[in-house]
Amino acid sequence: MPIKRKSGRKADEIRPISAKVGIIPNADGSAEYISGKTKAIAAVYGPKKMHPQHAQNPAKGTLRCTYNMLSFSVSDRIRPGPNRRATEISKITEWALAPIVMLDDYPSMVVDVHIHMTQADAGTRCAGINAAAMALAHAGIPMKNMVSSIAAGKLDKTVVLDLDKYEDSEFEEGEGSTDIPITFTDDGKITHIQVDGKINKKQLMEAVEMARKTSKDIYEVQKKALKEVGEK
Ligand code: CDP
Repeated sequence: MPIKRKSGRKADEIRPISAKVGIIPNADGSAEYISGKTKAIAAVYGPKKMHPQHAQNPAKGTLRCTYNMLSFSVSDRIRPGPNRRATEISKITEWALAPIVMLDDYPSMVVDVHIHMTQADAGTRCAGINAAAMALAHAGIPMKNMVSSIAAGKLDKTVVLDLDKYEDSEFEEGEGSTDIPITFTDDGKITHIQVDGKINKKQLMEAVEMARKTSKDIYEVQKKALKEVGEK
């Protein structure tokens, strides 16, 4: 029997999504990505000279991402400032975006991507990556592709998409929950995948294919939001 989700969603049904580009006029590029109760905003500044100087890469520009969950984004107030989790997600975001961003023409420079979660209900790294990719395009940073990120997962024995906070942290039936955030290029290649929990190879393949299919719908939402604001 497939699992009955508390939210009533079907196994491959993601939360309602929306996107908006150009939300922060002072930034070189900006975007918002909303997935259910998870809301991410991203602001891009640059390319600009990298400081401190010792961090400069004379061969090409550097993509620097900073992920942050605002203190009011969850019901238990989060202590502001960097922590291990935020540092890890910042790096993962850089790695997810690095294959598509072309910074060869910007030696010693940096493109700063600031990602803030105004509301967090799981899936924040994916929402942040989606917002960041749109903000980079809006800033006119040369890119090979767009990327779209979504978590697949498993609840007990059923492969599902897009775990919410309850499913991610509180679901304990049978085998419990597995969270598998994945980022795809618009031609379906993976730039980032993580597996938090247990899953066998067959179900992992099923989860990846489910996420790959839905990443195309996310891409359409991102593309539409970019078209609506036009080139900067
Ligand atoms: O958000 P994401 O699924 O990418 O990452 P996670 O580390 O698996 O966190 C899942 C969820 O737990 C977050 O989206 C928040 O809703 C919540 N969380 C929290 O309430 N307090 C924290 N310090 C960290 C996470």
